[in-house]
Amino acid sequence: MYASLNRPYQIIVPEGKAVSQMFAGIAGRYDVANHLLSGGIDFYWRRVLTKMVQAAQPKDVVDLATGSGDVAFKLRDRLGPEIAVKGLDFCEPMLDEARRKKNTDPAYADLQFDFGDCMQLPLPDSCVDAVTISFGVRNFEDRQRGLKEILRVLRPGGRLFVLEFSQPDKWFRPIYYCYLKYILPVVAAIATGDKSAYDYLAGTIENFPTKNALAEQIKLAGFESVQASGLTFSIVAIHQACKA
Ligand SMILES: C[S@@+](CC[C@H](N)C(=O)[O-])C[C@H]1O[C@@H](n2cnc3c(N)ncnc32)[C@H](O)[C@@H]1O
Repeated sequence: MYASLNRPYQIIVPEGKAVSQMFAGIAGRYDVANHLLSGGIDFYWRRVLTKMVQAAQPKDVVDLATGSGDVAFKLRDRLGPEIAVKGLDFCEPMLDEARRKKNTDPAYADLQFDFGDCMQLPLPDSCVDAVTISFGVRNFEDRQRGLKEILRVLRPGGRLFVLEFSQPDKWFRPIYYCYLKYILPVVAAIATGDKSAYDYLAGTIENFPTKNALAEQIKLAGFESVQASGLTFSIVAIHQACKA
């Protein structure tokens, strides 16, 4: 099924059901762990992502693998209430976190958080101007299938924005991999009580393609004008791509 959950650094292919169960197990502490493990820099990464979306001037946006909804909330803040924003995820406990946060602020009343598996999106063809996905693509059971699903639901001229971990600059790799292997799982275990989920995180990050290789995969799925920008020594990258 899913060797990575038990044996760190043995990432094969994430299996959808196991991924969903793993996120269900950490949903209540996901945000805290996220901010703690990234030293808060994830706020900056999401800010850059949503600025790029704003520059594309979409009329509507779907945030896939939305989890606890932080990108969707940021999109609402930045784009304003005229732009429809919907979050989809296949893990109900993560969606419950998003809904709980939404209910704390009337400004988010019209945000929608629904069940949706990126392998088979519950959306019609050519229905949305922009799709965002942050720290989700890495977990896809079949990356090409997921990317082609996104292409299907985008309108012609629509844009995909992917925020994801990447392979950092060479000089930074030894420090970063040490952090991933020895520090992150321990801190995460304390924060969430689930070390295996963060062994999985470390393993998927180390095995994830470089930004140029991911750009090729996005092109292969049928996207055009693919651009990649690394952030924070390329710990993460944002890929933008267009549907012709
Ligand atoms: C690391 S979290 C990212 C959450 C959020 N986007 C963020 O930036 O914090 C990954 C999320 O992807 C979701 N996910 C993974 N594979 C998915 C799929 N095939 N379809 C829908 N959601 C998926 C998980 O349930 C989880 O909520």
